[in-house]
Amino acid sequence: MKKRAKITVVGAGNVGGATAQRLVEKELADVVLVDVESGMPSGKALDLAEAAPMGGYDCRLLGTDRYEETANSDIVIITSGMPRKPGMSRDDLLRANVDIVKKVTESVAKHSSEACLIVVSNPLDAMTYVAYRVSGFPRERVMGMAGVLDSARFCAFLSMELDVSVESISAQVLGSHGDSMVPLLRYTTVAGIPVTELLPPARLQALIERTRTGGGEIVGLLKTGSAYYAPSAAIVEMAEAIVRNKKKILPCTVLCQGEYKINNLFTGVPVKLGSCGVEAIVSLKLNEEETAALAQSVDAIRAMHQAVDQIL
Ligand code: NAI
Ligand code: 2OP
Repeated sequence: MKKRAKITVVGAGNVGGATAQRLVEKELADVVLVDVESGMPSGKALDLAEAAPMGGYDCRLLGTDRYEETANSDIVIITSGMPRKPGMSRDDLLRANVDIVKKVTESVAKHSSEACLIVVSNPLDAMTYVAYRVSGFPRERVMGMAGVLDSARFCAFLSMELDVSVESISAQVLGSHGDSMVPLLRYTTVAGIPVTELLPPARLQALIERTRTGGGEIVGLLKTGSAYYAPSAAIVEMAEAIVRNKKKILPCTVLCQGEYKINNLFTGVPVKLGSCGVEAIVSLKLNEEETAALAQSVDAIRAMHQAVDQIL
């Protein structure tokens, strides 16, 4: 009989807690929730275990501040860090979160040397690079979550605008998880129809802008933190593709080594996710305008990687 997968979620805050809930509700894995706070992850894990009789799941849940308990995880999801506060850019978080993600990666890599790492902490492109450098894991097993969320936001806004089910919409947002992210209109379709045939350029541009600032829009509304319902759903879509070996094509932040003419930078590109982690990087044909937008996004990412190199 096949063993249930084991997933560790580091950071039991808003994103980590919601992720743990979605993972067990799908019965994807036994879940270990880790946080620097000692009682809080145990409290959340116990609360979720007590919800199991209504939720109808049998997964084991454990909350802890001890990394020994995370041993032999199949996937480790890193959400530890400071969230953005109003008026704070993702990049402002860099210094504080490099330190946190470095310590966390050292600990999880020591106990789960075969795990896939899904990084969530911001600034995302930089933190995924930190996890890669510190873990020493191959690039296939280190990825960041951003493109799935950014594409989902774009789909949600298009669905509201067109009054069409989100299920009929498919979008691709590549590049950085920041202001220079690249929504690809030619690859955004509604029931296969390019969205450029359905909305005038000015409306599309407004929705692209809303997507680029989608994280900030939620921060401004919540006031005490950042988004976690959509982010946790995006993380679990990636984790499910790995656990169930779905070979799903999703935009994820991975180390490009020549793909899209990007060298040694963690960038959001479409990848095939399966039980081996990132099993392939999918090459989309980009036109001149798309290539230029991606290059601009890559410049922002390169600057962040250089800032990380100076800190590590
Ligand atoms: P939160 O503040 O609710 O939770 C963060 C948790 O990390 C806290 O419980 C804190 O105690 C814990 N933590 C801090 N240092 C730690 C350490 N050394 N070891 C273990 N745990 C530690 O924040 P939230 O909303 O859960 O966001 C977490 C991170 O995810 C932030 O950096 C946020 O910007 C990022 N984020 C990224 C998204 C993306 O699209 N990539 C989407 C949403 C959030
Ligand atoms: C978001 O996009 C804060 O990066 C996070 O919601």
